[in-house]
Amino acid sequence: MIKIKINKLLNENQQPVGDDQQTRTLLNTYLQKNRSMYPYSNPKGIDFIINNVQPLQNNKITKFLGGGLYGIAFQLSNDHVLKLFVDSFSGKDQAYYSAYKNALFSKKGSPYLPTIYTTGTVMFYNIPLSYVEMNKVIPFEEWLKKTGRGGRINVADQACSEVAPIMYDIEDLETFTGKKITNFKQIKQYFGNKQPSIQPLVERIRLSLRSIYSQKIFTKEEIMGIMKAAIEMRKLGIPLNDLHTGNFGVDPVSQAIVIYDN
Ligand SMILES: Nc1ncnc2c1ncn2[C@@H]1O[C@H](COP(=O)(O)OP(=O)(O)O)[C@@H](O)[C@H]1O
Ligand SMILES: [Mg+2]
Repeated sequence: MIKIKINKLLNENQQPVGDDQQTRTLLNTYLQKNRSMYPYSNPKGIDFIINNVQPLQNNKITKFLGGGLYGIAFQLSNDHVLKLFVDSFSGKDQAYYSAYKNALFSKKGSPYLPTIYTTGTVMFYNIPLSYVEMNKVIPFEEWLKKTGRGGRINVADQACSEVAPIMYDIEDLETFTGKKITNFKQIKQYFGNKQPSIQPLVERIRLSLRSIYSQKIFTKEEIMGIMKAAIEMRKLGIPLNDLHTGNFGVDPVSQAIVIYDN
């Protein structure tokens, strides 16, 4: 009697919540539009995704959010983001998402890092498909529109491209001083430092920041937020690879800047 009941319960749990018409339609439409997703953009592939991608066991897909060369992002019914991506070249993105997830579990999380609920890689025949379920933020390009700066996305992207070199200078600064830089205040302290060996680096960081400010696109809080996010990432060994307004956003509650794609 008890056994039957348990079996019934298990069977009920085995039916993925994501096995619904809207989920199928959205997957079908947008997998077909993304070249990197072609191995899965057929009925067998879609069945496979619905049955094997863990977040779809408990959630439906409600909306298409966007996609790039190697991935595609959807909104889930729990208001999180589901990203499907191929990571066969480097496996790096998957490693980054795992690092964020581990940081959360070991209480080294931060509001400036994406919150990763689930991530994994599943094999469809011999073709790996990676997925990640993370918190949803307001993509920065959308944030610019909301705040009356929608016509200047190119300027913002230009300014973004100047952030990565600052991070390299910060790394060099650490090498020279032997001190790990964990927040922006420490860099500011170096601005007053007269130690000749680090002056060129400090000056370069100062000039880069001034150049970004002079473009009058980011507020002070925004540029500090981007720097904080990049510094938090680097603490986990994640470099800044591809910063542009489609790859980071603003947390709707804490207003922290979060870089969700690299
Ligand atoms: N956490 C997120 N919150 C809000 N939107 C997101 C999030 N992750 C991805 N998106 C949306 O989906 C798009 C594609 O996701 P992204 O992670 O940049 O993948 P890709 O590798 O394809 O560039 C983004 O440009 C953004 O519009
Ligand atoms: Mg992207």
